[in-house]
Amino acid sequence: MEICVNQMSINSSTGTRAVDRIRPEVWAVTSGKGGVGKTNLSVNMASVLARMGYRVLLIDADIHLGNVDLLMGIRTKFTIADVLEGTKTLKEIIFRAPGDFDILPAASAVVDLLETKQNVFRDIISSYSRFQQNYDIVLVDTAAGISTQVLSFVFSADKSIVVATPDPASLTDAYGMIKLITRNRSDAAVMLVLNMVANENEGQTIYHKMNLMTQRFLSHSLIYIGSILQDSRIAWAVRNQQPLLQTDPNSPPAKAIRFITRKIMEASNGSQSRRTNLFEGVYKYRDFQIGGGEV
Ligand SMILES: Nc1ncnc2c1ncn2[C@@H]1O[C@H](COP(=O)(O)OP(=O)(O)OP(=O)(O)O)[C@@H](O)[C@H]1O
Ligand SMILES: [Mg+2]
Repeated sequence: MEICVNQMSINSSTGTRAVDRIRPEVWAVTSGKGGVGKTNLSVNMASVLARMGYRVLLIDADIHLGNVDLLMGIRTKFTIADVLEGTKTLKEIIFRAPGDFDILPAASAVVDLLETKQNVFRDIISSYSRFQQNYDIVLVDTAAGISTQVLSFVFSADKSIVVATPDPASLTDAYGMIKLITRNRSDAAVMLVLNMVANENEGQTIYHKMNLMTQRFLSHSLIYIGSILQDSRIAWAVRNQQPLLQTDPNSPPAKAIRFITRKIMEASNGSQSRRTNLFEGVYKYRDFQIGGGEV
């Protein structure tokens, strides 16, 4: 039996989805505070989705080189800055990762170069509109913090996945990020993942408190996606530059990441026009100032 959800249909017997043909669904993985596990989650979710049969593009939107590529044990030569310089095309800088998904490296560099390279950026928008058809899901791994480079990608996504840990500083920063998203994209689907928790209950309890705050002060409900336990296997996999889903696919944290990925897949997305392409969104939000010119 086929059920239609937001232009995607789910086959109820297999659980797989026939995805939208207009453009891929964009998921932004973000946090506020750094070091909470965004890149680890993004890389592993890309691997899960590829295994489920989806065509995935993972955009490393961290300007500091050596984020996704370092975690994957791959050294990239080119970034989107080379596209803006006109020496490479978007297609030429994308590379195939082990795990059968594609990576677009250091994409947030575009935001800094936007003013001087507007014409080239328009070319990026149009070339991205064509090649996005090669993908079902585009995952954006953002940098830490609430800079324009981060927010321009987050505001342009269909689903915002906010990662936090039980650390109070991480929760405060996650709330700050949720506030910015809900203020600027009132239609956004904002989801919370708790990482490095001691147990499931800790994750649930933190979610309930955070959701009460967002409902009360931001008039927006958070979607709880799940939690990942603090687990030395993740740190080991990161140190060895191999995604856990590939080295230890049956471990509890790998199972948690599979569960999380399916739940995000099943959650309905925001109602943002599904005809806008990701880089058009980045262009639109390029001048965003926190606390000032909020869009
Ligand atoms: N569930 C977990 N259990 C144990 N360690 C974890 C877990 N999740 C992530 N880590 C560790 O936390 C560190 C930071 O992870 P990661 O690089 O994914 O965070 P990040 O949010 O992308 O950081 P940044 O903001 O700097 O980009 C890594 O060294 C990783 O080993
Ligand atoms: Mg990271």
